[in-house]
Amino acid sequence: MATGNHEQKKTPDNSREPCVALTICVGSSCHLKGSRRIVEHLQALIETSGFQDKIELKGAFCMGKCVSGVSVLLDGAYHSLQPEETNAFFTQNILKKPGGP
Ligand code: FES
Repeated sequence: MATGNHEQKKTPDNSREPCVALTICVGSSCHLKGSRRIVEHLQALIETSGFQDKIELKGAFCMGKCVSGVSVLLDGAYHSLQPEETNAFFTQNILKKPGGP
C-alpha cells in the first residue's frame, strides 16, 4: 500500500502519474555551479533505477536561493546540492525515502 506524498494517482486514461517531483534550478548561478552535471547524473540514476515513470525530473529558472549550491526542489522542499553529492542525494532522499518511489 502506498502512503504519504508518494502515492500514485491514476489519471483519467488510467495511467500513473509520477510520485516524486524533482526540479533542478538551471538559472545562471546554478548553471555555473554545475546544475547541468547534476541533471545529467540524475537522469542516469533515474534510468538505472528503473523509476522513469515514478520520478518527474524538471528544470526551472532561478528559485531565489542562489547563495549556496545548486538549488533542488524535491516534493516541495528545497535542497542545496554540489554536483559530487548527486549520488548520495539520490540514494538518501529518493531511493531510501519512506513510501517511494
Ligand atoms: S540561479 Fe538557481 S537559485 Fe538562483
